[in-house]
Amino acid sequence: KTTTTTTTDSGTTTDKKIVFGFSQVGAESGWRTANTTSIQESAKEAGFDLKFSDAQQKQENQIKAIRSFIQQKVDVIGFSPVVESGWDTVLKEAKDAGIPVILTDRSVDSTDTSLYVTFLGSDFVLEGEKAGEWLVDQYKDTTEQVNIVELQGTTGSAPAIDRKEGFEKIIKDHDNLKIIASQTGDFTRAKGKEVMQAFLKSNKDIDVLYAHNDDMALGAIQAIEAAGLKPGEDIKIITVDGIKDGFQAASEGKINFIVECNPLFGPQLMDTIKDVLAGKEVPKRTVTEEGTFTIEQAKEALPNRKY
Ligand code: AHR
Repeated sequence: KTTTTTTTDSGTTTDKKIVFGFSQVGAESGWRTANTTSIQESAKEAGFDLKFSDAQQKQENQIKAIRSFIQQKVDVIGFSPVVESGWDTVLKEAKDAGIPVILTDRSVDSTDTSLYVTFLGSDFVLEGEKAGEWLVDQYKDTTEQVNIVELQGTTGSAPAIDRKEGFEKIIKDHDNLKIIASQTGDFTRAKGKEVMQAFLKSNKDIDVLYAHNDDMALGAIQAIEAAGLKPGEDIKIITVDGIKDGFQAASEGKINFIVECNPLFGPQLMDTIKDVLAGKEVPKRTVTEEGTFTIEQAKEALPNRKY
């Protein structure tokens, strides 16, 4: 069912399209663009009336958008929170208005989990762990110090916090694996390049770059090449996401390992909305399925890569 039944003052019932208010983080990365397209296309396919709002990576814009959805009395609100904290008040407002909220991609740190119905998205800690495991395996035969630089995602965002945590958890028992510099690149290519330039200036022997997404790594690759070094060889690169451009760079040997983060959950989200509005029980947490790719695997998968 893709409509909701409303009863007018005179008692007649009409079917109207499900109105879905969605507040997106922004358009900071290739991953995000693919996620937006997936949501827009599948909302159309499902016959929903989608009210889409782009927050341009600003929490205040997301809060404004959610308040406007409440005012417009949408049937359901979806949002991918730019940062983890500071959502309780506005989520309470949605709850009081009787509008179910679905979290997608990123979660919030609210202790009151009744403020949202369900959370659909990746396990970012696991992604960080996968990145760390690959690194540990790569350097299992060396006791020499391995100098790692880290490009973090947006400060305060769930993927930046969790990908760091997962990675550190895995490498912490290996004394020679050292993060010598770590800074945010805000998930963008431009910032990734800028911060990598600074890393290269102040650190002579960088062995590994761990970037929390492909876009920052792609920016960093430009900085590494401009410094006369070979990405993937002089500096090994691990990234997260698996966008086409990342796969392209991996198949050229410039990225060594990609941890996949799947943005194409639009259809699953629309199904969840239908279930929620039909009063069905939905799981509180649904984790998207994801793989990992070495250079060889990336080469093979590139022609059929969907995003
Ligand atoms: O929340 C998912 C992250 O957000 C993606 O890894 C990154 O590219 C995006 O900006």
